Amino acid sequence: MRVVAGSARGKRLGTVPPGVRPTSDRVRESLFNSLGQFFDGGAVLDLYAGTGALGIEALSRGFEKAVFVEKDRRAVAAIRDNLLRTGFQDRAEVVRGDVEQVIETLAERERFFRLILLDPPYKIAGAELESVLSRLPVLLSAQGKIVVESGVSPYEFGIRGMKGTTRRYGGTHISIFARAERTVSIAVCPGSFDPVTAGHVDIIRRAAGIFDHVVVAVGGNLRKKARLPSEERARLIEKVVGNLENVTVEIMSGLLVDFAKQHGARVIVKGLRAVSDFELEFEQAQLNRNLYPELETVFIMSAAEHSFLSSSAVREIAGLGGDVRGLVPEGILDAVREQYSADARVEQENKG
Ligand code: PNS
Repeated sequence: MRVVAGSARGKRLGTVPPGVRPTSDRVRESLFNSLGQFFDGGAVLDLYAGTGALGIEALSRGFEKAVFVEKDRRAVAAIRDNLLRTGFQDRAEVVRGDVEQVIETLAERERFFRLILLDPPYKIAGAELESVLSRLPVLLSAQGKIVVESGVSPYEFGIRGMKGTTRRYGGTHISIFARAERTVSIAVCPGSFDPVTAGHVDIIRRAAGIFDHVVVAVGGNLRKKARLPSEERARLIEKVVGNLENVTVEIMSGLLVDFAKQHGARVIVKGLRAVSDFELEFEQAQLNRNLYPELETVFIMSAAEHSFLSSSAVREIAGLGGDVRGLVPEGILDAVREQYSADARVEQENKG
């Protein structure tokens, strides 16, 4: 075995003590290539260190310090010998002891590492591996990574709060974990909502179940003038979605893409009732995509009972004194009846 790259490149490591399964030069090389090859400082923790080959490779590639943890007496002697061979003895600490206990001590001393390497014996008990993995994030610095070498399928373990990728090299799986950044998914539900219908509310509710936050954007459509002012339309929506904690209602005066950018949204949610909706929605989605390629339009299929329902139908029925019960949410029934029938009367009077 040799050091693959860095300041000690090519230096030979000593003989492997019995019972230790060292990582092959090829896997070590691939592993460090996936990590970014070379480093500028920081500390590395090599758990179940065996011959210390992984930690030594990290020192050779630029890590400033390393802590090696190993229980087996002969393996500890091999690590010390390899540190002498590579000249890294002054940058290393070799701890003989049980990994779980050493982790506790390091955590108590508030030691942090940019890289934690873990190559446990393949026959390690699942419960021990799980317990060790669950403690590792407390030792990891903000941008740090945890590398686990394992003989089992990576899907059999994970680290809470971390996301991992796994590569397979023959019978060896190498999983690299980094902290999962918590990103909030914000979606915009745009429309004229003139007025909001039971179908709209169903789509908003379902979107709120998928995304962290939904902003209902009450917009104007230059191609058709709204009957009610946007403030009034927004007020009606607020009345019926007020019980949904992750939904807010806002007025959109400009372009939808600008509204989405201002609100940090990457998704537009629209309801699709039937094939007849598709053409216009497809056109709008393409136009928006052209203006802001990172913005995705997602369609939620309307419930069957809403497939015939539209704001224009509600306007017409309410305007002519018909019953819109079931077509708009119960809480705004009277307001819709009043506002849209009054609106129709004014229109008729104007015509007359
Ligand atoms: O309920 P509607 O009438 O289908 O809603 C249409 C709305 C408001 C979503 C759409 O007209 C819109 O996005 N308006 C904002 C102006 C805009 O961005 N136009 C260009 C994309 S079509």
